[in-house]
Amino acid sequence: MGDKGFSAHFSIVCFFSIFVTMHLVLGDLSYSFLEEMERGSVIGNVAKDLGVDLRTLSSRRARVDIEGTRKRYCDININTGDLFISERIDREGLCGKKASCVVKIDLVFENPLELHRVSLHVQDVNDNSPKFRENLMKMEIRESSEKGSRFSIGVAHDADIGQNDIQRYILQTNEHFILAVENKVVALVLENKLDREKQKEINLLLTALDGGSPQKSGSVVIHVTVLDANDNTPVFTQAVYKTSVPENSPPETLVITVSATDADEGVNGEVTYLFGHISGEDASLFSIDAKTGKITIAGEIDFEDTTSFEMSVGAKDGLGLIAYTKVLINIEDKNDNVPQIFLKSLSNPIPENVATDTEVGIINVQDRDSEKNGQVRCSIQENIPFKLVSSIKNYYSLITTGQLDREQVSYYNITITATDEGSPPLSSSKTLQLSVADINDNPPVFEEQSYSAYVSENNKPGSTLCSVSARDKDWRQNGTVIYSLLPGEVNGASLSSYLSINGDTGAINALRSFDYEQFRSFKVHVMARDNGSPPLSSNVTVSVFISDVNDNSPQILYPTLEGSSFMTELVPKAAHGGSLVSKVIAVDADSGQNAWLSYHIVKATDPGLFSIDLHSGEIRTQRDILESDSMKQNLIVAVKDNGQPSLSATCSMYLLISDNLAEVPELKDISYDEKNSKLTSYLIIALVSVSTFFLTFIIIILGVRFCRRRKPRLLFDGAVAIPGAYLPPNYADIDGTGTLRSAYNYDTYLTTGSRTSDFKFVSSYNDNTLPADQTLKKCSTDFSAIFGDADSSPEVGTIQYFKRLLTQKC
Ligand SMILES: *[C@@H]1O[C@H](CO)[C@@H](O)[C@H](O)[C@H]1NC(C)=O
Repeated sequence: MGDKGFSAHFSIVCFFSIFVTMHLVLGDLSYSFLEEMERGSVIGNVAKDLGVDLRTLSSRRARVDIEGTRKRYCDININTGDLFISERIDREGLCGKKASCVVKIDLVFENPLELHRVSLHVQDVNDNSPKFRENLMKMEIRESSEKGSRFSIGVAHDADIGQNDIQRYILQTNEHFILAVENKVVALVLENKLDREKQKEINLLLTALDGGSPQKSGSVVIHVTVLDANDNTPVFTQAVYKTSVPENSPPETLVITVSATDADEGVNGEVTYLFGHISGEDASLFSIDAKTGKITIAGEIDFEDTTSFEMSVGAKDGLGLIAYTKVLINIEDKNDNVPQIFLKSLSNPIPENVATDTEVGIINVQDRDSEKNGQVRCSIQENIPFKLVSSIKNYYSLITTGQLDREQVSYYNITITATDEGSPPLSSSKTLQLSVADINDNPPVFEEQSYSAYVSENNKPGSTLCSVSARDKDWRQNGTVIYSLLPGEVNGASLSSYLSINGDTGAINALRSFDYEQFRSFKVHVMARDNGSPPLSSNVTVSVFISDVNDNSPQILYPTLEGSSFMTELVPKAAHGGSLVSKVIAVDADSGQNAWLSYHIVKATDPGLFSIDLHSGEIRTQRDILESDSMKQNLIVAVKDNGQPSLSATCSMYLLISDNLAEVPELKDISYDEKNSKLTSYLIIALVSVSTFFLTFIIIILGVRFCRRRKPRLLFDGAVAIPGAYLPPNYADIDGTGTLRSAYNYDTYLTTGSRTSDFKFVSSYNDNTLPADQTLKKCSTDFSAIFGDADSSPEVGTIQYFKRLLTQKC
């Protein structure tokens, strides 16, 4: 074992990692045990000594941890609480000649952090024998030496301490010398004068004994040559030489010069210097100049390894007489060790919602230098929501100081700087990257406050109406947006039968074709939800507007289009030019331009006689009726809408120029339809007969019921028409388009063809329970029948009653 001093800075570091706020408790334990114990030998029970139960020991992950290349020496058995030897412990290697050898380790518990300093007192075992520097010591002594003369010899060395160190020397019994040991200097004292003539050479066995048990010893043979002349032993100028030298001094730096003088002259007075006992390692660190006595540095002197050296130096004259002296060299510390930063634990990543003042890491700093050179301050940069708090000496906790937000800062580069207080100071730094983990704290946000979709009716099912888009600032799952439709109703049906949404893209598709005539717009609520746990969501309204397409032809309400009957208008013979004789009434279920109707006469018996108003559909005489005009006039009227392309419908209008209903029977000549003629004949017969009248009446009642039962095929929201027969010749068009607002109450006029005999009653078309087209069609058929079969003087009152009945019921 070397006799180098054990580094004062030996440290064994235990560490662990914790997550929650740290709590520190210090408690010291101390164990004393012998060096060189077997591995596994138990030196104490920490559970018992700290008063914690074994479960706590494992749940809090009690640990002894050693940093760097230093040995671990001991460990803890979590199951029993035993502290046991885990590595060979050589006291001499650890502490050299120091009287007490203490190894400090840290025993650490987690959660909360608890640090216990454990002092291990390593006791010496007599495991080293005394040793002399060489096996044979040569001395030359003059025969003339006086009794009592002293001759120093090199001492033996024992790495052990105390009782185990050298206790005494024994010199083999002989005639001439006894041993004198004073102040650790061993000398032979001449008892009986030498006589070279009797004995030229003497061999003496010197044994050094330690006080250990069992005792150990070491021996050297001293070979004394008896010389023939008188001599003086060299004498050192100082009994002890003391000096100090800074560590890391370069080789050949002068440490000290020793000097000895010899009173003799010539060869006998020539002094050479040499090291006495010096351990192998130390011998390579220093060298001595044999002639000058200068001791210089030969190797690397490290204060952290050895703080002082003690050596013996001999001065030998030409005849081999040696004097010894002691040289003490103190090594001065230089700030040559950079502080080291060790990250003991780090919770990484940390959730963004971590509370302020939460400990997220533990840092340990070490500096092998001593005193100020080894005092370290630790800091981190500013402007980050973290701080360093010194907890135990050289331990720091990294604590949060504010709220974190991953959406703003997703990670922190934290640079830890450690600076010692040497002059000049040394510092080192370490950067750690601390990630912030995402928490689902942002709901998806739609890019727009509301959305509108425009679609033409008759769209293809499956076509995309529009796309909604929402962003979520969170990460991955928490930021993944899924779209869905909220339940709702459109026109009484479930929304989901009309629309679907692509959950990933937000594209909204129509599931069926829309009909503008059914509904023009509706609202949908779309939800965007993220995938977090729990998920966050937000809603947006999408308004769907359906635009009209010209998909409905005009429908002619009057005169009826049904070929099985015809309607005839009476035109007084005295009618002047410009008289209103009838009106074509049509509706279009579309709206706007698509429902803007225009009326044209496409064919007429006498093209010059009647004209139709393009917009109102009113048919007027163009000139006065002449006797020569044909009594039966036939017009074919086309009604067109203004859509692109335009749709149209046609109807026939029969006009009878006559003042007398008696002329009506001739009407059958107007129709070239055999069926119509027949029908007319039948109806005439029926009308004549009272029973037929009642029969008809019953049929009408049944028809009315039939009308009521049927659901309206079209809703006339925009326009409705009235049969022209209800209108007087001087009827004023309501809005100029041939259509009338449904909400409009107006007077309905009845006429029998005479301008003077007008009957008036009020009816409302506001009542939409009956579909105007169908009912009016049916009714008008019956009208024509009634009119057509009216006899020479029809009962005006009866007809009026009949009409009212029809109008109201239909
Ligand atoms: C953090 O450090 C990494 C490398 O260690 C570097 O790429 C990055 O730019 C640094 N970020 C900031 C914000 O300094």
